[in-house]
Amino acid sequence: MKIESTVALVTGAGSGLGRASALRLAQAGASVVAVDRDAAGLAALGETISADRLATLTVDVTDAAQVQAGVDAALAKFGALHVAVNCAGVADAAKTLNSKGEPFPLATWDKVIAINLTGTFNVIRLAAAAMARNTPNADGERGVIVNTASGAAWQGQMGQAAYSASKAAVIGLTLPVARDLAEHGIRIVSIAPGLFDTGMVAGMPEKVSRSIIDRMVLFPSRMGQPEEFAHLVGSIVENPYFNATTISLDAGARMTAR
Ligand SMILES: NC(=O)c1ccc[n+]([C@@H]2O[C@H](COP(=O)([O-])OP(=O)(O)OC[C@H]3O[C@@H](n4cnc5c(N)ncnc54)[C@H](O)[C@@H]3O)[C@@H](O)[C@H]2O)c1
Repeated sequence: MKIESTVALVTGAGSGLGRASALRLAQAGASVVAVDRDAAGLAALGETISADRLATLTVDVTDAAQVQAGVDAALAKFGALHVAVNCAGVADAAKTLNSKGEPFPLATWDKVIAINLTGTFNVIRLAAAAMARNTPNADGERGVIVNTASGAAWQGQMGQAAYSASKAAVIGLTLPVARDLAEHGIRIVSIAPGLFDTGMVAGMPEKVSRSIIDRMVLFPSRMGQPEEFAHLVGSIVENPYFNATTISLDAGARMTAR
């Protein structure tokens, strides 16, 4: 699908990978509905994309009505929805038993699963309903959905039980959803990033991130840049033969236990 003249809904667009994806799609000629629960991040995005091709909305992806409002904003302002990019996510961590023998707080588990997994599926189902109403292009395509999983789905580190489970589930749903949506001309692909330089890792001490890079990232020996993730999002939208798969984008990283 040509990015130019498409309408894209991007979640987590106030920061990091979502922000870079929104910018890349806009630069390639898409109109963008940028949603995030962080209003300040969205306001900053408004300084970089022209107002006639951007709508911003404060949305919590776990809330059905709020996500529907994001989809409706695409239809109301730009007349259709062709692309959805799921980047909203959290990485709250805890050990299954901490050093005092206390168990993983169930509230943390529920939060991570609710945002990373249920929130992703909430966007998929509501975006797909709008995409299914599009006139198909010459390839029969009506829409493209991109999810963000993580290398932690396969190689979760200590403390990442909830995060890894949520991302493995995103990978798991990719094939059945692709099968469900094929008859509607909608593709879905997940990206499993390694370590990227975003707000999510900004809190990490330099010593820790340097140690991860030196010990676990093969080549190039650095964090990924959000633009490199956005580049792949653009390729997935443009290349109609990407479907029903998860693509690692991680410089060959292999994570160890800590
Ligand atoms: N940065 C990495 O190294 C890395 C690696 C693998 C996977 N990921 C995944 O990439 C995605 C994007 O993360 P990032 O690195 O850009 O982090 P980030 O913290 O910079 O951005 C995440 C954005 O999601 C938003 N968000 C969180 N919960 C939300 C909710 N309930 N509703 C709406 N918005 C919500 C936040 O406000 C934030 O703007 C996440 O799913 C993350 O798990 C990141």
